[in-house]
Amino acid sequence: MSVADTLDHRIPADKATSLLTPGDYADGTIHQTYRWLRANEPLGIAEVEGVDPFWVVTRHADILEVSRQNDLFHNGDRAPVITSQVADRKVREMMGGSPHLLRTLIHMDAPDHMKYRVLTQAWFLPQNLRSLEDRIRAIARSAVAKMRASGGRCDFVRDVALHYPLHVIMTILGVPEEDEPRMLKLTQEIFGAADPELGRNAKEQQSLPPEERDLDFSVITDFFNYFRALSERKRANPSDDLGSLIANARIDGQPLSDLEAMSYYIIVATAGHDTTSSSTATALWALAENPGELAKVRADPSLIPSLVEESIRWATPVKTFMRTATADVEFAGRDIKKGDWLMLCYASGNRDEAVFDEPDKFRVDRKPNKQLAFGYGAHVCLGQHLAKMEMRILWEELLPHLSSLRLAGEPAMSEAVFVNGPKRLPVAFEMA
Ligand code: HEM
Repeated sequence: MSVADTLDHRIPADKATSLLTPGDYADGTIHQTYRWLRANEPLGIAEVEGVDPFWVVTRHADILEVSRQNDLFHNGDRAPVITSQVADRKVREMMGGSPHLLRTLIHMDAPDHMKYRVLTQAWFLPQNLRSLEDRIRAIARSAVAKMRASGGRCDFVRDVALHYPLHVIMTILGVPEEDEPRMLKLTQEIFGAADPELGRNAKEQQSLPPEERDLDFSVITDFFNYFRALSERKRANPSDDLGSLIANARIDGQPLSDLEAMSYYIIVATAGHDTTSSSTATALWALAENPGELAKVRADPSLIPSLVEESIRWATPVKTFMRTATADVEFAGRDIKKGDWLMLCYASGNRDEAVFDEPDKFRVDRKPNKQLAFGYGAHVCLGQHLAKMEMRILWEELLPHLSSLRLAGEPAMSEAVFVNGPKRLPVAFEMA
């Protein structure tokens, strides 16, 4: 990072701090930060004590451009998720110099990335997913039946949104149903590590200054132990599920290493439900606050696919990923140096005034909707068709019956800088 650029394009300290403050993602303050950055310093440098300096990419067009240039902006050269210097040092000590605790698709670049992605890609393509539609619809129907049985009041997150995509992805992976609560808890502990209600040691962590906060390795260890046993079972008794495919996969004639196989399970088992639950709950929250939008989509079910796109834009559950420049380059008027770290702010791109008309309004009939919540380029979300299909099916099953809906208490969002969404959504409703 050149000294001149650091001085010219430094982001004000309060805005830089906001980008790393979990509470700002929970109470919506982050959108004020993003608005300011898009207008005043759309590609600036954040300097925060205890974290290496990083460029902050907030405009829709720049996020797409960085994501598209996978040779110039790598995922794996440094941590692909924002990490403190203390945590980075610990990981490198543990992993023989590598900045990665895991080796998922997110941590890889060409040529390895594509080799590992094609292993499971066909599973997540629309033609294969069509064969799962009936099973997913049955799971959606039982979620709707549970809502009906709740007598007109529920916490939509706890009672519906968390369990539906969880059950779908665990069925796909071949994880027994009785283990789903454990998978849910571990996922919440990973993504909600900084949230006082969700994180395993979040209270102690929050009492420390940011530069002393550490990674909680115990959650990853628990995931490893669980999936190592699952993988052994799937090797001994393979079936047609994704868990068996991962356990028995070969790359260049060799089985996946333990770290690679465990990482594959973990990314599918975490990314595969939490994000979809968050988008679903965010949509129901927005519909409860905007009865006109609910009426619109109930009157015209052909709007359901557009409701799904708008939900994903509105929620943008994955807030950020990082990239590392592989060469010196002039990009969007800035001198980016080889090795510089860049933060892609998807939730900012999804409210960019240059792309979205009335970006701060939830509109079920938004058209066009160029939401970029699934990322772009070689790493574009592997599960995007599955996520959209799950949401479409749930709305097809629920909306015709949902004759009224309102908030019945204070909703709350989780506190997290990387992946967040609603953690509580009390609603009252009538079902026809
Ligand atoms: C609304 C739901 C979801 C959202 C918003 C979301 C978002 C994202 C984002 C932003 C990325 C990174 C893209 C990039 O770097 O360009 C990603 C990657 C990924 N997602 Fe999703 N995701 C969702 C659902 C799912 C589901 C259901 C799965 C199921 C397996 C999944 C699995 C993955 C995997 C494996 C990757 C890594 C792909 C790669 O690096 O090649 N996601 N997702």
